[in-house]
Amino acid sequence: MIIAVDGPAAAGKGTLARALAQHYNYHFLDTGALYRMVGLGVVSAGGDPRDAAAALKAAESLRPDKVNDADLRSEAVGEAASIVAVNPEVRSALLGFQRAFARKEPGAVLDGRDIGTVVCPDAEAKIFVTASAEVRARRRLAEIAERSAAPAFDVVLAEIKARDARDSSRAHAPLIPASDAYVLDSSDLSREEALAKAIAYVETRR
Ligand code: C5P
Repeated sequence: MIIAVDGPAAAGKGTLARALAQHYNYHFLDTGALYRMVGLGVVSAGGDPRDAAAALKAAESLRPDKVNDADLRSEAVGEAASIVAVNPEVRSALLGFQRAFARKEPGAVLDGRDIGTVVCPDAEAKIFVTASAEVRARRRLAEIAERSAAPAFDVVLAEIKARDARDSSRAHAPLIPASDAYVLDSSDLSREEALAKAIAYVETRR
């Protein structure tokens, strides 16, 4: 079984997807980390993420074993990721790895932006996790504050909105709920409540 978890930045999809994978004992893939690796690859080589050739080169030399690297988590790398993610050649270079991962037995949970629409349109369960931009900015701020000095709320909110705009308006695989996705608004839900709703939905798809 494949469970697709999509949604905007800081909606809580990573936390939810990991918890679902643990609940069902499935494999888990954070596909945003793949785009982050490409963004980091370009920037750390001194390149510009808007440079299509540099981005494609980084995508083709991807090291998925580095998927948990702490260097991937910064806002700057997230921004670079969302720039390289606009490039259709980068997206298609990452497709094979994601699709092969999704076929792992006994099942897989993938989180991203286009899992239910492009990577795994046949996924048995599709969840689109969302929350208001303000709630997501507050969550992101709390997350950053755990690691380093926290920026101002307005700065984080503006970054979240800029990332939403870029992810939703791109021509290839934009951020949009699949027509058959279960939309889960987590604005007023605790992690446990969101997980309980997601499990109740997945149970109807098994
Ligand atoms: O989810 P995360 O914030 O780690 O993703 C970083 C960026 O990678 C996103 O803003 C998005 O532009 C891109 N991405 C994507 N498709 C995915 C996962 C992430 O375009 N499946």
